[in-house]
Parts: sequence; C-alpha cells; structure tokens
Amino acid sequence: MKIDIVTLFPEMLTGYLGQSILKRAQEAELLTIDLHNIRDYAAGKHQITDEPPYGGGGGMVLKPEPLFAAVDAIRSQDDQTKSEKVILMTPQGRPFTQAIAKDLSECERLIFICGRYEGVDERVRQHLVTEEISIGDYVLTGGELGAMVVVDAVTRLLPGALGAEGAAETDSHATGLLEGPHYTRPNQFRGHLVPEVLKSGHAANIKRWHREQALRRTWQRRPEMLLSAELTEDDRRFLATLAHESAAELTGNDNN
Ligand code: ADE
Repeated sequence: MKIDIVTLFPEMLTGYLGQSILKRAQEAELLTIDLHNIRDYAAGKHQITDEPPYGGGGGMVLKPEPLFAAVDAIRSQDDQTKSEKVILMTPQGRPFTQAIAKDLSECERLIFICGRYEGVDERVRQHLVTEEISIGDYVLTGGELGAMVVVDAVTRLLPGALGAEGAAETDSHATGLLEGPHYTRPNQFRGHLVPEVLKSGHAANIKRWHREQALRRTWQRRPEMLLSAELTEDDRRFLATLAHESAAELTGNDNN
C-alpha cells in the first residue's frame, strides 16, 4: 500500500509514523508512507497556502491550487490504475469506524489531506476528495492527528503487519464486540488473582470465557453494539443470564 499525507506540518507526523508497528510495516515493505508539505506546491515567492474567505466571516481557508497540485504530483509518481481514495480529514466527515478502516486497508493508495484553520476551499471537497472522515465529534486544530489515527488503524489490518497472524481479528470492534480482559504474570498481584480458567489449559473453556467476558463488557459499556453483533445461541443464553442477574440486583431479589 502507498500512503501519501498532504499537510502544512509534516514534522508533526514523523515521530509517530517512525515507531513500532508502523515502522516495522514500512521496513517490511507492506506500505510506503510519504509526507508532502502543502507549501512546496504553493506558487509565487511567498508560497501562500491560505487566504481569508470570500464574503468575510473570519479565519483562513486553505487555497485549492496547492492541494490539487500536490495530489497531481503524487499521482504522477506511479501507476495510475491503482485503486485510490483521496481522504479529507475534517470534523464534518463520516465518523471513523473499524469497518471504514477495513475498507481502506483494501485500497492500493490512500492520499490524506489534512485540513487546517477554518477549513479548505469547497472545490477541494467537490472535485478532489473522494471521502471525508472525522475521528470524533470534537474540533482539533488540524487533520494531522486524525490522519495518524486512520493510518494506524489501517496499517494493523495489512496482512503480516502484526506479529501473530490474525491477531487483529480478535480486536475490540473487529468482532462487533468489545474485547474482554487480559492477564499476564504474576498470578497474584497485590492480592488479586488471575481467573482459574485461564490457567486450566482447557482450550474450549478458555475460548468460551473470553467470549463471555467480551459479551459482558459490551453489554455493560456499549449495549447498542449487541444489536448488530453476530450472536450464537450460546451468546444469547449468556446475555439472558446477565439481564436476569441485573434485574435481580435492581429488585434486590435473587430468586427472580
Ligand atoms: N480536523 C479537525 N477536527 C477533526 C476531527 N474531529 N476529525 C478529523 N479531522 C479533524
């Protein structure tokens, strides 16, 4: 996969992109990430990248020419037939989810445009960008953090990016449920023990325990996710016992 990030502040991204799984994925040539400074594509002696909005209203708007020029230059570098998405990071975009990450991980090239200031000229949205993504309902000073969030989530899904093959498949959200708890050594920490079942060596029981913990955590924290999760008969029975237990707690009656 080829990832290009168009930004006014490339240095903001270099640290994060050069560490850990992102670093290893690039070394293993699973992906190449190039950073492009918008200013390098701005014309004139002053290389102006932003100007006040037509009609007033305050703030500054990123000009269209340098953004179109940057994307043209990126495209001219390699194969035009690559499946591509041009993504504008903006609080007005589609809320980012694991399903979108999966979709993007199947593209050959992703070009991210990091907005700044009041935003970008509308012609960029209309005629350059194919997707607009938001990482949440809050406003950041620019799209750089958002681009890193999306690149990180997409990279983990590239085959071979995580050490243990398939590890991403049990992640929170990948299964439609939140992940349950994990434990490691020591067995006893400040008097708190690791659940017996995890030390039993009984693979089927351990698998069921993990599934039930995931169901329990999702039920407690994000119950709406259960409406669209794929559930087995066993899962439904377990959820019914949870509902039963909590009803009993509420009424203070454990015979119910
Ligand atoms: N730029 C500013 N705020 C943002 C957000 N919430 N998501 C993506 N890009 C942004």
